[in-house]
Amino acid sequence: MMMANGEAVKLAIAGLGTVGAGVIALIEAQGALLTDRAGRGVQVTAVSARDRARDRGVDLSSFEWWDDPVAMAREADCDVVVELIGGSDGVAKAVCEAALDAGRHVVSANKALIAHHGTALAERAERTGAAFGFEAAVAGGVPIVKALREGLAGNRISRVHGILNGTCNYILTEMRETGRPFEDVLADAQALGYAEADPSFDVDGVDAAHKLAILSSLAFGVAVDFAGVHVEGIRRIAPLDLEFARELGFKIKLLGIAEKTAEGVSQRVHPTMVPVDAPIAAIEGVTNAVETEGDFVGSVVLQGAGAGGGPTASAVIADVLDVAAGRRAPIFGVPADALATAQSLPMSVHEGAYYVRLRVIDRPGVIADVTAVLRDQAVSMESIIQRGRDPEEPVDVVMTTHDTTEAAMQQVLAGIDALDAVVEPPTVIRIDRT
Ligand code: HSE
Repeated sequence: MMMANGEAVKLAIAGLGTVGAGVIALIEAQGALLTDRAGRGVQVTAVSARDRARDRGVDLSSFEWWDDPVAMAREADCDVVVELIGGSDGVAKAVCEAALDAGRHVVSANKALIAHHGTALAERAERTGAAFGFEAAVAGGVPIVKALREGLAGNRISRVHGILNGTCNYILTEMRETGRPFEDVLADAQALGYAEADPSFDVDGVDAAHKLAILSSLAFGVAVDFAGVHVEGIRRIAPLDLEFARELGFKIKLLGIAEKTAEGVSQRVHPTMVPVDAPIAAIEGVTNAVETEGDFVGSVVLQGAGAGGGPTASAVIADVLDVAAGRRAPIFGVPADALATAQSLPMSVHEGAYYVRLRVIDRPGVIADVTAVLRDQAVSMESIIQRGRDPEEPVDVVMTTHDTTEAAMQQVLAGIDALDAVVEPPTVIRIDRT
């Protein structure tokens, strides 16, 4: 759909939470700059949200109010529908589909929706010639979608990894710096407004997995395959693990890692020990960071605010300006029908080193029993540390291994868990030195 040059691009915004209000505030503050950059103005014409009366700190009086966001997407006086409702299905999906079917451009910050339905939505957009932008869906204000789709388009990307969830990075940073337990620090993150409406999406790794599935598709030219992501969260990480990590020369980060090999694509989100001097180890608090590896460019690292009204609005507006200026790149870097079927590799074939923490009864022969389990699976131990000596209470024992396979390691963990002297399931954290 072409729009006459000079006429303002008109937006209908569905969802007026922190990000929706941030988009309106940004347009108000930067109107002249946006006009210069797009060659035309950017104007909000219509809005829709659940609660009309709520004070959002922005003036909505000049916008047409719609109670029904789907009707707005189809019928309002607009060129672009900005979907900021959230959720993988339901209203958000209906809004995007209605807008695309009507040939209206869509800009969305909805990672869950794109992780589950991104390829189908791209096909839908291509059918009517609408644009579909989702810069804001991954890493908030960090422009990694555009970087992969356009800035790095001359490269074959072999790996993308990063800190994709600010809430988890904040929690792990606070736990390490203060020694406070997980639940206490999660409550802080919720009070500060970092966490998702359902914080289990953050702490169980789902939010990061949504974002990783989108990045994999852009990086490797494969259909979005959220089901192919191995997902683990940070609930089982104790302050003690952060202390042991320090002793061993690591920090613990919840990483999303996607790699392309001759065998297929591996996608995994899990707590990861990274060397203290790795670039990603320096990323603290709610900050997000993504590192990519391209065959001609080498390593590229982007970092910045991964959440919040201002940063996410910044990403939404980048997509809006592309539409306004008539700039188009294929939605996932290539046309939807050129996306390969993802050959997602199972976690069992992963190879790497491991950290394992056990709580054991401190009696003679326990370590011999543990090492016998490792020997039986041909897993080689790199180091072992025991903390404390108390015949009445279990003690913590930590081991690191040399590189092995996930399949062997799962056998080891089952074998160790079955030992009488081991009083709780082992905590396992993968080590990544790349
Ligand atoms: N809850 C998300 C985070 C917000 O903590 O990173 C942005 O997706």
